[in-house]
Amino acid sequence: MATLLINGKSRTVDADPDTPLLWVIRERLQLTGTKFGCGMAQCGACTVHLDGQPVRSCQTTVAQAAGKKITTIEGLHPEGRHPVQLAWVAEQVPQCGYCQSGQIMSAAALLAKNPNPSDAQIVDAMSGNICRCATYPRIKRAIKRAAQQGG
Ligand code: FES
Ligand code: FES
Repeated sequence: MATLLINGKSRTVDADPDTPLLWVIRERLQLTGTKFGCGMAQCGACTVHLDGQPVRSCQTTVAQAAGKKITTIEGLHPEGRHPVQLAWVAEQVPQCGYCQSGQIMSAAALLAKNPNPSDAQIVDAMSGNICRCATYPRIKRAIKRAAQQGG
């Protein structure tokens, strides 16, 4: 058994310590906003925050997450109105949408650390999040919009 602090709630799950956090989030807790893409820390679809830092939940174990504050896309804002989410809507970023939870979680972590990132800093921070629909220009515009609005 493991106890995880996820989206502000303590949840006890029946999982081995080396179980990937992504499995627990999606399969046990039914928080399906976080996506499984590659399973190898190569795509960023599974990005969540651990104590505010973006991590790949497919390559983070339950043991590594225990005792830390875990935030998934469902917990970013109670009504889905985090400045990054609002900017994503305003810029109509998603195409198929599959990568977008991970993109938003990486963007939110960037702006929490660096409220006014340069283009190069945005590219660097987002480089681990792959979008097969190539929504990159809209992602960059949305991050700049969110930054202007205190993202
Ligand atoms: S599913 Fe975790 S990085 Fe691709
Ligand atoms: S919106 Fe389709 S993979 Fe990014």
